[in-house]
Amino acid sequence: MRRILITGGAGFIGSNFVLHMRSAHPEDRIIVLDKLTYAGNLDNLKSLSNDPNYRFIRGDIGDFNLLEDIFTGEDIDIVVNFAAESHVDRSILGPKAFIETNILGTFALLEAARKSWLKDGKAPEDKKFLHVSTDEVYGSLGETGFFVETTPYSPNSPYAASKASSDHLVRAYHHTYGLPVLTTNCSNNYGPFQFPEKLIPLMIINALKGKPLPVYGDGKNVRDWLYVGDHCTAIDTVLSKGRPGETYNVGGRNEWKNIDIVSLVCDIIDEKAAGDKKLAGSYPFNGKRKSLIEFVKDRPGHDRRYAIDCGRIERELGWSPKFTFEKGIRDTVEWYINNRPWWEGIISGEYLEYYKLQYSR
Ligand code: NAD
Ligand code: DAU
Repeated sequence: MRRILITGGAGFIGSNFVLHMRSAHPEDRIIVLDKLTYAGNLDNLKSLSNDPNYRFIRGDIGDFNLLEDIFTGEDIDIVVNFAAESHVDRSILGPKAFIETNILGTFALLEAARKSWLKDGKAPEDKKFLHVSTDEVYGSLGETGFFVETTPYSPNSPYAASKASSDHLVRAYHHTYGLPVLTTNCSNNYGPFQFPEKLIPLMIINALKGKPLPVYGDGKNVRDWLYVGDHCTAIDTVLSKGRPGETYNVGGRNEWKNIDIVSLVCDIIDEKAAGDKKLAGSYPFNGKRKSLIEFVKDRPGHDRRYAIDCGRIERELGWSPKFTFEKGIRDTVEWYINNRPWWEGIISGEYLEYYKLQYSR
């Protein structure tokens, strides 16, 4: 039995990963540490509430004393660090929380692991610290080319800079202290439980409700989209087969211009509504939902293009994405249609305030 500490496990990718691990490795003990910021949602994990091999702890990854108690009390073997402030627009409006959680929080976690695991100078074989990072640390690409693991870091937003900083700390703890670390740098994820401030869920919900679809700039920025379930299997694979000290790029080989994704979401919803009277009745709309698209002021410092070369994890560890975008995006639209109470709870609260603020800038 492995004792796995999953930080940020109540967020989008973290909760998908917890559910994946529970079904793929039922023998493992899972401890979720999450501060439950606006982005954390315990509803995502409610199916585990009676599981004796699962424990939820509300707390901050920056809290040294709490971390020491968890490492000692639970005898942690593996850390998977998802906990972060994750939204680029929020980092532009207020970078402080990004510095606190993404940099100082990761530092505290590394210190807790170092103190607990390196008592005799060398970590036991079964210990692993996997840091979940992003392709945004590499900066922006032109029309051609891909990010590889050796691409120099060139972060452009406060979010990307804070993640780059945490990646460097993780690397340094391996180089200096021999902490058994692994880092994954992944492209844009989509799928169930994604907070509706991010492009795809925001567009699905607004298109359903007949609200404006705000596309930044000319809409031609490119992102490489990966279904969240594929990201979870990539992390699971790196945990079991990855080489300590190594970094692995994870991506979908699936580049899309933002405007094309938004148009596709509109078409899928129009098509579903045309064939489903109940859906059309719940979300009445005349005409094509594409007419809701509005080009708005661009995001400051908006990176033009991200594209991941995930050749290393494919060749060395045998992972590859399993979901086609065609299936993943349809399943995702379907998930938001079927889980209206999940997102209605969210958009009626604090998120609305943020939304107003963002569009008044
Ligand atoms: P999210 O915002 O949905 O979830 C973040 C979670 O971390 C939330 O549950 C939140 O409550 C928790 N959290 C925040 N601050 C905390 C703190 N100080 N202590 C403990 N918990 C805290 O984020 P996500 O999209 O699921 O991203 C998860 C990780 O994956 C992040 O590290 C992000 O940088 C990385 N990542 C995300 C994507 C993506 O497309 N979403 C792609 C690549 C990498
Ligand atoms: O690349 C990985 C990163 O992907 C992760 O590290 C981040 O945590 C995650 O949030 C995501 O960052 P992006 O900035 O790429 O995601 P977002 O969904 O915010 O935006 C995707 C693209 O869509 C981006 O080019 C900006 C654009 N956009 C976004 C929103 C919210 C719009 O045009 N309109 C919008 O309303």
